[in-house]
Amino acid sequence: MEKTIDESVQGQALTLDQKEGNNRKLFIESYGCQMNFSDSEIVASILAKEGFNTTQNLEDADLVLVNTCSIREKAELTVRKRLEKYNAVKKINPKMKVGVLGCMAERLKSQFLEEEKIVDLVVGPDAYKDLPNLIEEVDAGRNAVNVILSKEETYGDISPVRLQSNGVSAFVSITRGCDNMCTFCVVPFTRGRERSRDPQSILQEIDDLVAKDFKEITLLGQNVDSYLWYGGGLKKDFDKASDFQKATATNFAKLLDLVAIKYPKLRLRFTTSNPQDMTMDVIEVMAKHPNICNYIHLPIQSGSNRILKEMNRLHTREEYFTLIDNIKKLIPDCAISQDIITGFPTETEDDHQDTLSLMEYVKYDYGFMFAYSERPGTLAGRKMEDDVPEATKKRRLSEIIAVQRKHSEAIHKSYIGKTIEILIEKESKKSDAHWSGRNSQNIVAVFPKENYKIGDFVMVQVNDCTSATLIAEAIDYSENN
Ligand code: SAH
Ligand code: F3S
Repeated sequence: MEKTIDESVQGQALTLDQKEGNNRKLFIESYGCQMNFSDSEIVASILAKEGFNTTQNLEDADLVLVNTCSIREKAELTVRKRLEKYNAVKKINPKMKVGVLGCMAERLKSQFLEEEKIVDLVVGPDAYKDLPNLIEEVDAGRNAVNVILSKEETYGDISPVRLQSNGVSAFVSITRGCDNMCTFCVVPFTRGRERSRDPQSILQEIDDLVAKDFKEITLLGQNVDSYLWYGGGLKKDFDKASDFQKATATNFAKLLDLVAIKYPKLRLRFTTSNPQDMTMDVIEVMAKHPNICNYIHLPIQSGSNRILKEMNRLHTREEYFTLIDNIKKLIPDCAISQDIITGFPTETEDDHQDTLSLMEYVKYDYGFMFAYSERPGTLAGRKMEDDVPEATKKRRLSEIIAVQRKHSEAIHKSYIGKTIEILIEKESKKSDAHWSGRNSQNIVAVFPKENYKIGDFVMVQVNDCTSATLIAEAIDYSENN
């Protein structure tokens, strides 16, 4: 199923293994992108050392933290609603403290404390290591704010606590921030400039996950193809690096190659790729290693060259087609998914048709589609009138969703009769007699449990499909995994 705007901001309360001796209770929930969920695991790890165990019961909490998203207005409204709920609980438990983390904290800063009286603590994405001090302030009855963005912080030295994990797949962040400055996007303002994490600390975290028997990792960043480690510091300062630093730098293709070689039995994924930064060497590394999944999330945003330019996406529709052709040449069965925005300022019916025709060319496996939401502070927010009527945005969105659904369904149908390898992640939501997992192309398949267990790689034959899921049965068990 396509992810709708609503689904993209679903919150999730998280728990962590209880540490003996900890006597304060933390309720932490996350909204928005995977990076927020991953950051909450870092926050939980920092607070575990400060005497906090997590609780899933809001009513029991001494401290409530909400990791927030600013990407669209709707995401922020969802968080405001949650704050109302916390407020109601605080009336029963007045000692409870409330903190806002993440992108909304960074965007609104101390303004939050005025707008939302129940908030005690505002902490931006680069300031989580300051949480122990900030909580001390709050304990002393003062509000506390730290929204300083960093040039260096990657949290590479913090071992995240895996919250509510299935024990099979995990995210490992490799970059923070983004320098691309797409004109619609708030991320460069809320998460700061782009910096990469030391490959050694990435490998260490993966070592840890492998030791815990995890089977799949996803390397995470706003723009993974732009990963560049040259000893620390901002990506934009690479020019000033020494010759030695330049000669020994690690780019994304190298990092991917390194990880794939070191962990041949681990399934590898990465997200998100930006077409303007994805180079052939990344695709070549993917083609070389069977353990790198054949799936690329490759947002396009619009099929119109004029709109791409207005969005400051630094590639054309034609260059995107060349990239797609190259991917398909090297990895014929590579699945590709998109992000598309409808109703960006000045978008005409012709521009919209360009998006639809681009979709017909690429035939994406999957998509995340959104109506444009003006974000304060972005270039488009400041300089362009949000002039496409809401009804037009919605109509264009539904046309795009319909095309995506048609393509996803056709691709799912083409799997019927085929044999694919699935990594079992969890029980099927619809039946406790079935497992659910994904193939290399990131398509979900369900099949009877038999004697298989979570974390097994299983060869299954696809017998049928729905619009979102392949219906299959196991035919073999590959011992070598
Ligand atoms: N590079 C990032 C993109 C983050 S935002 C990543 O790792 O995913 C995710 C998607 O949200 C974008 O690709 C874009 O399609 C959508 N988006 C961002 N800003 C938006 C806005 N102002 N209105 C509507 N959709 C937006
Ligand atoms: Fe946003 Fe564009 Fe970066 S969508 S996260 S500014 S690549």
